[in-house]
Amino acid sequence: MALNLVMLGPPGAGKGTQAERFAREHGIPKVSTGDILREAVHSGTELGRAVKAVMERGELVGDELIIGIVRERLMQPDAMAGFVLDGFPRTAAQADALDEAVITANRGPVICVEIQVPDEELIRRVRGRRVCDDCGANADAFEHKPDALPDLCQNTERCRTIGPKWVARSDDSENVVRERLKVYWRDTRPMIEYYSARPTFRAIDGKQSPEQVREALVGAVASALGMPPAQLQSMVAKRLGAQA
Ligand code: AP5
Repeated sequence: MALNLVMLGPPGAGKGTQAERFAREHGIPKVSTGDILREAVHSGTELGRAVKAVMERGELVGDELIIGIVRERLMQPDAMAGFVLDGFPRTAAQADALDEAVITANRGPVICVEIQVPDEELIRRVRGRRVCDDCGANADAFEHKPDALPDLCQNTERCRTIGPKWVARSDDSENVVRERLKVYWRDTRPMIEYYSARPTFRAIDGKQSPEQVREALVGAVASALGMPPAQLQSMVAKRLGAQA
């Protein structure tokens, strides 16, 4: 059975942090629209030039553009056994496009997990976030506290060799974060309400430690699939064993 997971929640809720680890531990790709767009901006591609100003204002890039990117990514062979979507969908049109690409195409259920965190905690987290200026990885994801950063980003060989360049994300200033939260409550939250009526929807408390959120996430996914966490783990272990 394919494991199609959508991480929902406001900016700073921990979607990226959890998506990264869940994808790695379950042998499926993480598809982060924010990462794809930031990479395009960093590389100065046509897409990057088109979205840079919109992202820096904290607004959403157009549905047509982002739906095209995700649709194409989910058609890649590595996404056929499942995926973790981080940052998509964010509007009703994006949610419809995802249903069409997965449910209508008989690729299994879409499990939606919302990470809930109060606004003031979100702002605190996002203002404190530092990312690698080269690869974009979060400095304090799981292993590190913001006040005890490793000297070098360890994510890629290039980061390990070029030296430390921890920076704030260009859309993490307080006024842009407040705009992102406004956009979230206006455009994305109503879509989550719509998802919440589905039997495959779960909400988890994101104000716990990253490890506790991880456990809650695994529990939520297993429950949405109607199985105990141990059964999900053995299903994944079998698949990873077959892939090895
Ligand atoms: P995107 O990159 O998706 O940003 P976001 O949704 O605002 O989410 P963040 O990345 O800020 O937060 P997160 O929930 O992933 O939290 P994280 O794990 O990093 O989008 C950026 C922009 O791209 C958008 O504004 C828009 O312009 C455009 N875009 C993207 N997708 C789009 C779409 N579908 N349609 C249109 N436009 C789109 O954690 C945050 C911090 O908290 C980190 O420092 C982390 O280490 C820390 N942390 C994580 N978990 C915990 C915890 N449990 N306790 C304490 N700290 C924690």
